[in-house]
Amino acid sequence: MATARLLLPVTLLLTSLSRAWCTTFTLTNSCAYTVWPGLLSSAGSPPLATTGFALAPGESRAVDAPAAWSGRIWGRTLCGADAASGRFACATGDCGSGTVECGGGGAAPPTTLAEFTLNGAGGNDFYDVSLVDGSNLPMVVGPQGGAGGATGCLVDLNGPCPAELKVAGAEGAGIACKSACEAFGRPEDCCSGAFSSPATCQPSAYSQFFKNACPRAYSYAYDDATSTFTCTSGSVSYLVIFCPSISSLKSSVGGSTNPSTSGLPLINDTVSFLNRGGGSNGNGGYYDASSSASLTASGPLLSHAGAAVLAWLCTARGRHWLPW
Ligand SMILES: *[C@@H]1O[C@H](CO)[C@@H](O)[C@H](O)[C@H]1NC(C)=O
Repeated sequence: MATARLLLPVTLLLTSLSRAWCTTFTLTNSCAYTVWPGLLSSAGSPPLATTGFALAPGESRAVDAPAAWSGRIWGRTLCGADAASGRFACATGDCGSGTVECGGGGAAPPTTLAEFTLNGAGGNDFYDVSLVDGSNLPMVVGPQGGAGGATGCLVDLNGPCPAELKVAGAEGAGIACKSACEAFGRPEDCCSGAFSSPATCQPSAYSQFFKNACPRAYSYAYDDATSTFTCTSGSVSYLVIFCPSISSLKSSVGGSTNPSTSGLPLINDTVSFLNRGGGSNGNGGYYDASSSASLTASGPLLSHAGAAVLAWLCTARGRHWLPW
């Protein structure tokens, strides 16, 4: 009994510390091909236990972050050892490290990016999925346990990408889709020079291509009003799903804390035909507008132990390890 009296406050302390210190990202690969996630901490933000790894189709992995973390998560595709040098390299999303771990390297565009600022202004998490640097695969961020909505891009844009933006792979098929800024370098596409303010940098026909297909994703640098999502910090964990199965996503995922985006669908019904017939992601999915199922990751959850103490504090297993 004396032990119990001692351990109870310890448990409560650990529980509150884990709430204050940890946010768990659960990365799931629902693509039909292997994805190598890359993780980059922003300047001044602590490094995570991993900066890159392989995720086989159907596989998931949990990565814990301290509550004030900010940074990016993306998916690398078509990776392997370079025949000549033996260095690890990816056809899309490459971080230049020459190894599976990115070690502080960022994604080479065009790459779909999930961006996070945890525990930012007003005690909120801010997150978005950005196509500002182009896109390479469908990706969705789904908060779990908060009022924030899911965001991302469900459509595989590699096929329908305009020819002048398309990046073709060895076999000629599209493997990524550039932003107009990367393709043409014009200030009006890059929101630079005379176009470096929200008032002067307007959406273009090219940014509109991305926005029409993925209404909640960032399509150009000043797309904030419809693309930044918030959740109250500390009570939320995040699913990051590559090639989410469209039918498993709920249609009306507008969170109450995101009034400006609550009217926007996660996928544009009128362009959802883009994915029909099975793209490279194997979805072949129709958007099921009547589905109201919660956003859930499919596939087994194969979590790895991260940095030991933080991971233990962060996981439900850690919190529930003690018998009460
Ligand atoms: C859906 O796409 C169509 C055609 O590209 C566009 O006119 C419409 O505004 C889009 N809807 C949303 C919600 O983005």
